[in-house]
Amino acid sequence: AGATVASAVAAPEGGSDPAAEPRTALRFPTGFGWGAATSAYQIEGAAKEDGRGESIWDTFSRTPGRTSNGDTGEIAADHYHRWAEDLDLMRDLGLDSYRFSISWPRIQPDGTGQPNQRGLDFYRRLADGLRERGIAPMATLFHWDLPQALQNNGGWESRDTVERFADYADIVFRALGERIPVWLTVNEPKTVVQNGYLRGHHAPGRQDPDAAYLVAHHLQLAHGRAVQAFRATGQPGRIGPALNLHPCYPADDSPAAAAATRLYDGYENRLYLDSVLTGSYPADVLADLGPQSRLARGIVDGDLAVISAAVDLLAVQYYTPIYVTADGGTEQRWPTSVAAWQQIYPDGMFDMLTRVTRDYGPIPLTITENGLPTADILAADGTVEDTGRVEFLRDHLTAVHRALAAGVPLESYHVWSLMDNFEWEVGYDQRFGLVYVDYATQRRILKRSAHWYRQVIRDNGF
Ligand code: NOJ
Repeated sequence: AGATVASAVAAPEGGSDPAAEPRTALRFPTGFGWGAATSAYQIEGAAKEDGRGESIWDTFSRTPGRTSNGDTGEIAADHYHRWAEDLDLMRDLGLDSYRFSISWPRIQPDGTGQPNQRGLDFYRRLADGLRERGIAPMATLFHWDLPQALQNNGGWESRDTVERFADYADIVFRALGERIPVWLTVNEPKTVVQNGYLRGHHAPGRQDPDAAYLVAHHLQLAHGRAVQAFRATGQPGRIGPALNLHPCYPADDSPAAAAATRLYDGYENRLYLDSVLTGSYPADVLADLGPQSRLARGIVDGDLAVISAAVDLLAVQYYTPIYVTADGGTEQRWPTSVAAWQQIYPDGMFDMLTRVTRDYGPIPLTITENGLPTADILAADGTVEDTGRVEFLRDHLTAVHRALAAGVPLESYHVWSLMDNFEWEVGYDQRFGLVYVDYATQRRILKRSAHWYRQVIRDNGF
């Protein structure tokens, strides 16, 4: 993995008991932003209220066999009704920043036309409530809940959806722009491509590689059109994409593994990074897809200029590394979490951050997701001892600190997630929250990790 960079190691502050266990303190830069993240479909519930339209996740999760236990986001964590209580919780934790997403079908129930005022009002109240509590709102425009009406028209396979997204973005910027200092365009385009169109276990549940990479292009284009729409409003905030990056490592020392890893990295990372930050798709990926691919045929002159419209920051999300074998397959190297796709490897965080800075220059970075699902149990005494999550966060934050010391221009970090929520195809089985949600009562309970994180925020380190 990456080079070793000495951490800023400080002695514990204050008169500590010398007999006590020695403690190494990591201090983060003054002003470093501590946050947590969620998304609309995963927490809001209230699926039929205040004029909200249907999204592809309503359709998908209602389809028998698509989600664990047939779980849906219809009620979720009921955040749509409990938002004020949830904001108080965030204030108690001391969050500097809260990342949430805006539900497109609340704003435009059919994905087009006049905005639904009640939908906009919800996010206006939310943003105001955050600011009243001293928390900076960070809003994602698209976190996978595409209006079903647009899916019926071809969804992200259709270039028209890109223009619908630009219109939606324009509506949201004009209504909420003054209140929201940081905007993220499309959350994890790669996950839509891979899970929605290659593996088919996310909405819309397709398994069509040729369609998948055309969808990738349209998602990138949608990002660029939203950036252009934002600039056209002349608003002072900042905007960027939210990309999940996977550091790729060869599984062995063979030249074949090295070559396979390089191409794998193209599909996992460079496809999304290069198009936004350098204005081109990686040549090796384009060659691999071939000149007759729907992606190659779907690129219109000028598209890459739109996709690479200047951004103000890059939001990155890290969960797991990938080990690539000589034949282009993958291999498990580290223990996984309760999610089979997640190997626990904190150094991957360091490698991912330093790589982005090395390859793309000193663009400001924010970590908008990093987290761990655990099998949390609410004990009879009312506590949730998620020590695995505390360890995970501590180890990953140590890697973050190392990246800062190596010069990575990282401004903030957001835990996924603020609270337990609807984890897509596995429903409520996997809990990612700092805060436990007792779905039967909708009671919120701070887990051990929440108490720990609150102290990290207070001390600006640990
Ligand atoms: C990425 C996604 O953005 C989020 O919606 C999801 O819950 C987490 N990763 C965990 O899988």
